[in-house]
Amino acid sequence: MKERELESLRAQVDTCQRCKLREGCQRVVFGEGNPEASLMLIGEGPGAEEDKLGRPFVGRAGQLLDKILEACGFERFTHTYIGNIVKCRPPQNRIPTDEERLTCRPYLHRQIGIIEPKIIVLLGATALQGLIDPQAKITKARGNWLMWQGIWVMPTYHPAALLRNPQLKRPTWEDFKKVVAKYRELVDPNHYSANC
Ligand code: URA
Ligand code: URA
Repeated sequence: MKERELESLRAQVDTCQRCKLREGCQRVVFGEGNPEASLMLIGEGPGAEEDKLGRPFVGRAGQLLDKILEACGFERFTHTYIGNIVKCRPPQNRIPTDEERLTCRPYLHRQIGIIEPKIIVLLGATALQGLIDPQAKITKARGNWLMWQGIWVMPTYHPAALLRNPQLKRPTWEDFKKVVAKYRELVDPNHYSANC
């Protein structure tokens, strides 16, 4: 059921012309994962690799994200659904403008509404600002639970930021440990993770 609703939304997003980003990208990156997942991850927008393949988080940052998830006992297609603030790649990977974020946001809200995750992890400043508050600071907000429409939300650093600055790996790991603890509390008390 959720799968069908998502596929119908995907068809709509695939033909979207609401902003200029579609003209400059190759593929629309709608999102992927388990439509029934209790855990949703939200990034900023597609990069070059994602644009080529039409899938989220498949470049270097995506590989790091998969490793982090694995350390938490999560697998992207089993435990998660992964999406982005904007579905089309901004030229030269620039940060999506406020207008582009706002234009694309109804699609994200609809995705969240269909999936009904219990926990959302916001990856980086753009995800935090795009979903919660345009003025929010990731350095201040990360690691602290927020509530959005009844959903537990954990902002943390973007995996690309970890590649640029390895010192951010440690606080990010602390944030993901909180996510695992919340997952055990809300979803599966027996959730297994080798690392935490
Ligand atoms: N960075 C993002 O924010 N999203 C992706 O899908 C890939 C890289
Ligand atoms: N700088 C970024 O660009 N992103 C983050 O998530 C944190 C710092």
